[in-house]
Amino acid sequence: MTIYRLRVNGAEHAVDTDPDTPLLYVLRNELALNGAKFGCGLGQCGACTVTLDGKAALSCLVPVASVGARPVGTVEGLGRADAPGVLQQAFIDEQAAQCGYCIAGMIMRAASLLERVPAPSDAQIRRHMQANLCRCGTHMRILRAVRRAADALARPKGKA
Ligand code: FES
Ligand code: FES
Repeated sequence: MTIYRLRVNGAEHAVDTDPDTPLLYVLRNELALNGAKFGCGLGQCGACTVTLDGKAALSCLVPVASVGARPVGTVEGLGRADAPGVLQQAFIDEQAAQCGYCIAGMIMRAASLLERVPAPSDAQIRRHMQANLCRCGTHMRILRAVRRAADALARPKGKA
């Protein structure tokens, strides 16, 4: 076991674990951040998506020892149930969740796009979101939610 210092959603954490423990397990089991989900464990579904240094990362494939000083972002860092962030509100407004299992990963993949490309085209959104799967088939609502969030972020503050 080794102690790793992680910066998650702006807060520092020390975790004592094996170097090859997936970041997903650390988030869920050590830090009680249960937004990111275990889907396939093989890098194929995107349910475990978080951001690492602002880029989407499949946390089931990221050994904790490789994180280093890179900041980790999870869906919990974007807002709270009583004060959802822009992306979370857009997913609520579009009723994008059916079972909800994929949604935290979808939101974090979208967050990594909007951080880098503030005004994405529909084609860019579609391409960027392709890596994440939704077994309930709400992809069209998910794409609309990302569009809605991008539009809301592009609007000058105070304008509805
Ligand atoms: S659980 Fe990580 S990609 Fe499926
Ligand atoms: S809403 Fe069920 S997997 Fe996406």
